Amino acid sequence: MYVPESVITNKDLMKFMDTSDEWIQERTGIKERRYAHRTNETTTTMGVEAAKIAINRAGITAADIDFIIFATLSPDYYFPGCGVLVQRILKIKECGALDIRNQCTGFVYALSVGDQFIKSGMYKNILVIGSEKHSFGLDYTTRGRNISVIFGDGAGAVVLQPTVNENQGILSTHLHSDGDSAELLAMYNPGTHANHWVPEKLADFNDGDMGDMFMSHAMIDKAQNFPFMDGQAVFKKAIVKFPEVVMEALTANNYKPSDIKMLIPHQANLRISQYVQQKLGLRDDQVYNNIQRYGNTTAASIPIALCEAWQDGKIQDGDLVCLAGFGSGFTWGSALLRW
Ligand SMILES: CC(C)(COP(=O)(O)OP(=O)(O)OC[C@H]1O[C@@H](n2cnc3c(N)ncnc32)[C@H](O)[C@@H]1OP(=O)(O)O)[C@@H](O)C(=O)NCCC(=O)NCCS
Repeated sequence: MYVPESVITNKDLMKFMDTSDEWIQERTGIKERRYAHRTNETTTTMGVEAAKIAINRAGITAADIDFIIFATLSPDYYFPGCGVLVQRILKIKECGALDIRNQCTGFVYALSVGDQFIKSGMYKNILVIGSEKHSFGLDYTTRGRNISVIFGDGAGAVVLQPTVNENQGILSTHLHSDGDSAELLAMYNPGTHANHWVPEKLADFNDGDMGDMFMSHAMIDKAQNFPFMDGQAVFKKAIVKFPEVVMEALTANNYKPSDIKMLIPHQANLRISQYVQQKLGLRDDQVYNNIQRYGNTTAASIPIALCEAWQDGKIQDGDLVCLAGFGSGFTWGSALLRW
């Protein structure tokens, strides 16, 4: 894992917007988050820092990597993706590089894709990265406070390799989506939708000067270039789908919640995590939470939490670990691992 040095507390955010430490902690559990250096760090460079550690811990070198999967919603460029930039920086030999756009479920999707390539025998050392530089794209005025206080920057990475041990590795992955609510947690602009979807959500767009271009001055003037979130709708769906997809993974492998050594949920909101814990009947020591220190780092949150849990000795060889994500799309998914 890699997180930027700069720590931004709730009190720091109060300089820009009408919010409070109490409000943020009570609703989300977040105390502080990290923000990348404005110009020296990007989503890719943070991903590379995490990748270097993962490659080293896997006991290989960058030259051994034969496929790259990069999950993010905050890429350096609209195109090309971050995967090719990682390949360039790490001087990895010519290989496939895939970018995944599944937001908070991005890392679970990336892991699932990598798992299929490993199981089919196509690749032997897949670098999977989740990284986000949210701080570059948030609305720091009171208008954007329901979103801006939640998100933080950081990166996590793993290397996937085949194993001959049948009781070790990724046991199964489970992926879902429901596009009916795509606009409830989304960044509409810039984009090519030309107001095609839910105009009522984009009411300000109906004056012609914004709706027919990928990007325009009017978009910026009307602050239409920031993410939108219906927080309560996200919350309601998340607390149903998180437990459901964890149970799906357990049931598929004939396990029950008490068999889990560590559940690593995507760090969306501490309240969501606590609700899921209670719903599944898990003890405090069975659920890993670090949103208090990093906020919601979207595609990076699961690998960051996985790394910390492992470094803290909370995950040992042979432990049953469940990863679960939910987010924009809506998409959700889980992975059950025997560490
Ligand atoms: C975003 C979230 C914390 C908001 O909490 P909530 O209880 O739903 O709050 P509401 O949106 O109803 O807003 C309540 C009030 O707080 C205000 N408010 C919103 N953000 C605020 C902030 N950062 N500081 C202070 N007040 C804030 C609202 O303007 C509203 O004020 P009003 O009553 O005067 O209109 C909550 O909905 C949530 O956590 N949802 C899930 C979000 C999530 O997990 N996203 C990531 C998904 S991967």
